[in-house]
Amino acid sequence: MAEWWKSAVIYQIYPRSFADSNGDGIGDIPGIISKLDYLQTLGVDAVWLSPVYRSPQDDNGYDISDYRDIDPIFGTMEDMDRLISEADKRGIRIIMDLVLNHSSDEHPWFISARQSRESPWHDYYIWRDGAEDAPPSDMGASFGGSAWEWVPEVGQYYFHQFSVKQPDLNWENPALRRELYDMIRWWADKGIGGFRLDVVDHLGKDPDRGITVKGPRLHEFIREMSREAFVKPGLVTVGEAWSADTESAKLYSAPDGSELSMVFQFEHIKLDQAEGGEKWDLAPLPFLRFKEVLNRWQTALSGQGWNSLFWENHDLPRSVSRWGDDGKYRTESAKMLALLLHGLQGTPYIYQGQELGMTNARYPLEEYRDIEIRNMVSERRAKGVPEEEILRSVHAKGRDNARTPMQWTDGKNAGFTDGSPWIKVNPNHADINAASQLEDESSVFRFYQTLIRLRKTHPVFTDGTFEMLLPDHPAVFAYTRTEGGSQLLVMCNFFGDTIPDPLPEAGAGRRLLLSSYPDEKPGILRPYEARLYLKESE
Ligand code: GLC
Ligand code: CA
Repeated sequence: MAEWWKSAVIYQIYPRSFADSNGDGIGDIPGIISKLDYLQTLGVDAVWLSPVYRSPQDDNGYDISDYRDIDPIFGTMEDMDRLISEADKRGIRIIMDLVLNHSSDEHPWFISARQSRESPWHDYYIWRDGAEDAPPSDMGASFGGSAWEWVPEVGQYYFHQFSVKQPDLNWENPALRRELYDMIRWWADKGIGGFRLDVVDHLGKDPDRGITVKGPRLHEFIREMSREAFVKPGLVTVGEAWSADTESAKLYSAPDGSELSMVFQFEHIKLDQAEGGEKWDLAPLPFLRFKEVLNRWQTALSGQGWNSLFWENHDLPRSVSRWGDDGKYRTESAKMLALLLHGLQGTPYIYQGQELGMTNARYPLEEYRDIEIRNMVSERRAKGVPEEEILRSVHAKGRDNARTPMQWTDGKNAGFTDGSPWIKVNPNHADINAASQLEDESSVFRFYQTLIRLRKTHPVFTDGTFEMLLPDHPAVFAYTRTEGGSQLLVMCNFFGDTIPDPLPEAGAGRRLLLSSYPDEKPGILRPYEARLYLKESE
C-alpha cells in the first residue's frame, strides 16, 4: 500500500545510545542488527535512525561530512546494507535522517568554500561581506553565540543556525539542490523506507531579513524536492518543523503528496515553559491548553493532512518524568501516556526506551555531554544564574535525558556495552530494563506491544474521526474515534489523584479493550488510570 505509514508505528533509534557491539562504549549498526528481533517482538513497522553518516560528531551526527558514507564509529556501508536487508526480513523499514539545512564544516564542500570565493562550492553556503568584529547582523545561533562566523581567507562571514561547525547550506543555489536530490535518490535506491527531514522549516531562509523559518521559498523547495527526489513509490517522509501551525501543516502533509507525508509539530511540546522564555525556563504544563492544542491539531488535519504523534525524541526529556510520575506511579503513568497518544489519529512514534517507561537522568552537570546543554550552562553561569536553577533546567529539559544508554538488562552498563559508555548509564536500570519487562505480562513494554497489535487489528485506529470529550475537565483527557459502526473511547486520568469517574456510562455497549490497571473499580478513576473501550459495528 502506498500509504502504509498511515497504519504504521515507527520506532526511533538514537544509534549512539542503543546497543554497542564492539565495546568502544558507543552504540553502532551491528548493535542495532542484534536487536531487530526485539523490535519485531514489539511489533513496529519502521525504524527512524538518527544520523549515522560520516561526521565529526560535534552535534552527535547532525553535522555531516559525507552524506554517502557511514561514520566508522557506527560501522561500515556493508553493515548498513545488512541492516536494511535484515530489517526487511522482519517486515521493518529503515528511515534515514536527512540533515539538509547544514553540513559539517569538515564537509569537502565547506573546506573548499572557505578557502576562496572562486571555489565552485563557495556559493553552497551563505556568505556575507563585513569587517572582522562587525558581523552582518546580531542574529544568534540556536546553540548560543552569534550566527555569523568570520573567515579571514575570504574576508566574509558564513551563516550557521546551529553550532559553528554546522554551516548552513545555501538552498538558493540550484546545483546544491541537485546534488542533495541525487544523494536522496541514491539512498532510496538502497531500499530504505523513507526519510526524516531535520529542521525542514529552515530551508529557504532569508537571513538578511532575519527570517530563519518559514522563508519565502520554503514550500517551493519542498515541492521541488518531492518531485525530484522522493520519486520511489511508498517512501514515507516526515519533516521536523518547530514552527509548524495547523495551516502550514496542511501544506506540508497535503493529501496529494506534493510535499511530505507528515510533519512533527511542537505546539504541545512548547507549553511547559515560561511565557517569553526559553525551554530552560520551566513552567507547569497548562493541562487545558494541552488538551486544546491536541484537539485543534486532530480536528484541523482531519481529511486535510496527516498528524505525526509523539511525546519523545532525542531532543526531548522523557515523557514519564515530564508529564507522568517517574516514582510511585511510573508504570501506570507511562501506560496512560502511551494510550493517550496511540489512540489519536496519525502515525505514532516511539522513542527508544519509551516502551520501557525510561526516565530522565538526574546527574551532576559534569556527566552531561550535549553541546546544547554545555553552551547553555556556560551562558547562564556567565549571567550569574544560580547553579541549582541551571541544574533544575537540565534535569527537566536537557537533551541528554533521552540519550542515556538503552536499558537492556539489570547487569553491567544495563547490557548496553562491555566497555565504558560514552555517557553514564541511568542507575535505575536495576529496576527498569527490557529483559525484565519481556518476562512480565503487565509491563509497560507489553502495554505498547498490545497497543501496536490493536492498531493492526482495528482500522478505526487509522481512520476514525476524532471527537474530544469533556474539554473543560481539569484532570481527564477523553475522546472518541468513530468510523462506521466502530468507535473507540479513550479516557485518561492525567494526574495522580483518585477522582470520580466522569463518564460512568462509557462501558455501556462497549468492551474494555485495555486499561492501565489490572482490575476494574467502578465509579472512580485511580491515579493515571487510562481505559480504552471499543464498540464494534453490528
Ligand atoms: C534537529 C535535531 C537536533 C539537532 C538540530 C541541528 O533539531 O533533532 O538533534 O541538534 O536539528 O541539526
Ligand atoms: Ca561501538
